[in-house]
Amino acid sequence: MNEQPSLPRNHYGGDDVAARVLSSLHPAQVDRLAALDQFHVGGAAASRRLAERAGIGEGQSMLDLGSGLGGPARLLAGEFGADVTGIDLTSGFCRIAQALSARAGYAETTRFCAADALRLPFADDSFDAIWTEHVAMNIGDRDALYRELLRVTRPGGVLALYDVVAGANVAALVYPVPWASEPSQSHLIDMDGLRRVVTAAGWTARHFHDESAAALNWLATARPPKGVDGPTLRDVMGPGFPRMIANLRENFEAGRLAAVQAVFEK
Ligand SMILES: C[S@@+](CC[C@H](N)C(=O)[O-])C[C@H]1O[C@@H](n2cnc3c(N)ncnc32)[C@H](O)[C@@H]1O
Repeated sequence: MNEQPSLPRNHYGGDDVAARVLSSLHPAQVDRLAALDQFHVGGAAASRRLAERAGIGEGQSMLDLGSGLGGPARLLAGEFGADVTGIDLTSGFCRIAQALSARAGYAETTRFCAADALRLPFADDSFDAIWTEHVAMNIGDRDALYRELLRVTRPGGVLALYDVVAGANVAALVYPVPWASEPSQSHLIDMDGLRRVVTAAGWTARHFHDESAAALNWLATARPPKGVDGPTLRDVMGPGFPRMIANLRENFEAGRLAAVQAVFEK
């Protein structure tokens, strides 16, 4: 599979990420996966807020775009009754997500495959809802992205997104951040730009929430997980991960970053 030149394989854990993480899983970890598998600001609580805003419910067929290690997909299946297909450009993450779902009892209600968000391997009108958290920051061609998502959504279906966006302070970001080791991997637009590009692609805005205060509060109060048996996101992303999180917090505090949760309808 061709990867975007702007998203080198090694940013998200390197080629051996699946072998590394899966070989160090702890049997008791299956019930306590959030420090490993919720790869966005605010953790599982932020995913629950978005699911409630989007009205996700029993039996909905969902696409999780950029599904990472699969935590959001399992939360949507387990707590909201959805049936979730995840795609992610990082094939090692898909292998981890699939293995975690099998161990945690979600093999029937979640599945994961490697694919590029801009070339989805699905027919038109395939899903009731599209879900995407902290992925679009890696994607430069937003117009193509939101048109491709519209294509695979059934009429009346929804797009639920949670993204980091450019803040009011236009000073350069401090790198690395969790989605980018350096500027060429990061493609931020501001809140107004996000709303404009999604609606221009054919979506209708239903909810648009500035999540910056919640994100900042989480970044200021969240502590590295202690006493977790088995791997966490630090083991996925490597020893530079604490620096990425510290820079993320500094960029939010300086107003260089903001966060949005939004729901659109086809
Ligand atoms: C910060 S992680 C978020 C993972 C997950 N959404 C979560 O919240 O736990 C970003 C993910 O986006 C994926 N990604 C980036 N660009 C992508 C693209 N063009 N197509 C599919 N996935 C992509 C990366 O491989 C990575 O797994």
